[in-house]
Amino acid sequence: MNRIIVGDDGSEPSLLAVDWAADEAARRGASLHVVYVVTPWLFDVPTDPGAARVREQLLDGGRDIVEFAVARARDRVPGLEVTGEQTGGQPAKVLVEQARDALMVVTGSRGSGGLSGLLVGSVAMQVATHAACPVVVARASNADPRGDVVVGVDGSPAGADAVGFAFEEASVRRVRLRALTAWSHPVPSGRGDMQPLVYDRAVVAAEEERVLAESLAGWWSKYPDVEVVSEAVNGRAAKVLAGASVHAGLLVVGSRGHGGFGGLLLGSVGHAMLLRAHCPVAIVRGRG
Ligand SMILES: Nc1ncnc2c1ncn2[C@@H]1O[C@H](COP(=O)(O)OP(=O)(O)OP(=O)(O)O)[C@@H](O)[C@H]1O
Ligand SMILES: [Mg+2]
Repeated sequence: MNRIIVGDDGSEPSLLAVDWAADEAARRGASLHVVYVVTPWLFDVPTDPGAARVREQLLDGGRDIVEFAVARARDRVPGLEVTGEQTGGQPAKVLVEQARDALMVVTGSRGSGGLSGLLVGSVAMQVATHAACPVVVARASNADPRGDVVVGVDGSPAGADAVGFAFEEASVRRVRLRALTAWSHPVPSGRGDMQPLVYDRAVVAAEEERVLAESLAGWWSKYPDVEVVSEAVNGRAAKVLAGASVHAGLLVVGSRGHGGFGGLLLGSVGHAMLLRAHCPVAIVRGRG
């Protein structure tokens, strides 16, 4: 469905997510749906009149939160199709369910709860870990929205979908795409592992460049309008990508790469980017 879902809990960071999602819906010709998830208890029929009053007040407060966000999105993008709902459940679970037939889900990096200093909240993290569609975690940044779309490429299946998403983003934003592969091998695979005493960095770099170009090849023909710069960089992926995010408009990574164990839903690079990136982050799940 051509619909973007945005999670809103009334907090400042979630309103930033609403702004980001409204702009994105405009870029993609999609509609926007604002979701505020509250405790399901509010939808029970109370027997105690005191509880009924509290319930009504809380539901009214929730309606205000949704209406405020919907009005804000409509003001920001006149003509945008925006709907909203207050619904009962567990926030991350509801957003993940709604993600099933959505174009993407957007959340803020933080919400109204949590510890001060926390870099990313539990709802944002759970949605990024479990949603079937791409998840964008918006955050307050000085990043220029006209900055490059940066994508981390590792040749994995989720990485391939991330590359496709990044091309789409660069195309609808009319900005440059910067594709980065970070390499740090040869690395020891375990204790006592033998490393080659001599290896030619230039040869390793050239091989990485070749794999990177291969990962991009199919997409270039699909998006001839997108200007692409690609680079294989020696360093750890999380560090290289966090560094590149400083001047990026959006950072795109696959939900997981080659490492980790079977069944792992969010790899270490995606996890690190949710914590450390300086710009909004898109986590793209492979369909395979
Ligand atoms: N009740 C909710 N309904 C809809 N979206 C929500 C809700 N709670 C959080 N979100 C979404 O998730 C984003 C991050 O909020 P999150 O709750 O993860 O962080 P937090 O409140 O700072 O920490 P905590 O993990 O303690 O709740 C919000 O900006 C919002 O987009
Ligand atoms: Mg919260």
